[in-house]
Amino acid sequence: MGNNKPKLVVLSGAGISAESGLGTFRDKGGLWDQYDINEVATPEAWEKNPALVLDFYNQRRKLVLEAVPNDAHFALVELEKSFDVHIVTQNIDDLHERAGSTNILHLHGEILKAQCSIDESEVVKLNGPDIKLGDVSKKGYQLRPHVVWFGEAVPKMFEAEKIVNDADIFIVIGTSLNVYPAANLIYACKKTCKKYLVDLNELSTVKFKNLIHLRGNASEKVPELAQKLIKESNITI
Ligand code: APR
Repeated sequence: MGNNKPKLVVLSGAGISAESGLGTFRDKGGLWDQYDINEVATPEAWEKNPALVLDFYNQRRKLVLEAVPNDAHFALVELEKSFDVHIVTQNIDDLHERAGSTNILHLHGEILKAQCSIDESEVVKLNGPDIKLGDVSKKGYQLRPHVVWFGEAVPKMFEAEKIVNDADIFIVIGTSLNVYPAANLIYACKKTCKKYLVDLNELSTVKFKNLIHLRGNASEKVPELAQKLIKESNITI
């Protein structure tokens, strides 16, 4: 409980940024329909063809820079007035930051940052849209996107579990919960935690009871849920 406000934790995925124009991964026509994960989002892909990997992320980075937060992102900022809000996002865009959220953990990295290709602890903020072959770290090694690829460890997973552990309210927004270990976070909250799911579709992966599913677009359903929670919190406090 930050300054005795109830703790509200969000787990967001690509669906929250869909209405900002950023494609999701597994919807029809999504990124993984257009690209082969093994060509652009694994350490082996990087070894085999770094230029192709850099190009894939350069293209996505340009779209992120053109995108703007939508009402779902802004509603989460609104919640900070009544709740101790923590955002755990699988997204590598900076839309939560640009909307004004103050407590954000990126589980899968950040597309606007680069890291040394042999020392992941050396992370640099990009000041342009591209990482090119020949852009090197302080150590003199090629820079790569600061993104967690398939097959790589998720360094912030333990920190994320601790954030979810003592949530009073847990809201899952726009993720198919297909990717592990991130998807395990839904089992990290305490029994008494109130759980909500905002998603366009029914999720076959979610098998836990007493979950309230608000089915629809995040930009409509998240503001609706935020208003409801703020009203309820004003009554109880
Ligand atoms: N409003 C709400 N939900 C939506 C919307 C929308 N406008 N559009 C799509 N969705 C939902 C879909 O129904 C789906 O459940 O968002 C989810 C998107 O799922 P994925 O495309 O699998 O994206 P995500 O779950 O974030 O992927 C997780 O996989 O590729 C890796 O690292 C990548 O972080 C990503 C991870």
